Amino acid sequence: MTNTTIVEETIAFVKETLQGAEGGHDWFHIQRVFRNSLLIAKDEKDIDILVVSLGALLHDIADAKFHGGDETIGPKLAKEFLISLGVDKVITEHVVQIIDNISFKKTLEKGGVKFSSKELDIIQDADRLDAIGAIGIARTFNYGGFKNREIYNPDIPPNLHMTKEEYKKSSAPTINHFYEKLLLLKDKMNTKNGKILAEQRHQFMLDYLEQFSHEWNPQSL
Ligand code: ADP
Ligand code: NI
Repeated sequence: MTNTTIVEETIAFVKETLQGAEGGHDWFHIQRVFRNSLLIAKDEKDIDILVVSLGALLHDIADAKFHGGDETIGPKLAKEFLISLGVDKVITEHVVQIIDNISFKKTLEKGGVKFSSKELDIIQDADRLDAIGAIGIARTFNYGGFKNREIYNPDIPPNLHMTKEEYKKSSAPTINHFYEKLLLLKDKMNTKNGKILAEQRHQFMLDYLEQFSHEWNPQSL
């Protein structure tokens, strides 16, 4: 099978598997991460583009949030799929490691991130870009609505020192998520292009939060 066919087959598999997914974790999220990964990869050296493509396409194939917290399903499903296509073992293993280590929660856990590669750096940046800016705001409120969370509650302050378990269990208002995760991402970007793109999206979120606060407290206008 050529690399082009492998990627095409993977796109079809992901579209099919994610039918009916929550709006922030659907095929279009994957498509944006895939496209941004390829864009960022253009300016990086010695990158395996097949690994970047497959990692981006499969990174949320079975997100633990939607599978009772089970973090093993995604990597397992991706591995079975790539083996069924006859993809090279080393490439398959690399993609599985990427899926296993890309998540923000992992960074909250001491010793949680056990793997690094340039391909992971690129996909992680593309995934983080999709978590911030205008699209990030839309995804975040969509997820909050999906979980029936409050939009904002002035009596529940953000928790900036959550463990991975607390983060997973949190049912705090959606605005808190900006302080607990989204605003932290700009300084966690790995690549040159990722950092540049994150700056502008970060500023947009700050402007948004300022406006939100003005509207919530009209006397401050
Ligand atoms: P990762 O998959 O990298 O661990 P998350 O699962 O925390 O990242 O989040 C992916 C996206 O899902 C977030 O960027 C956000 O849009 C949405 N999301 C996750 N947790 C929350 C939350 N508590 N409140 C609102 N949105 C959330
Ligand atoms: Ni993602």
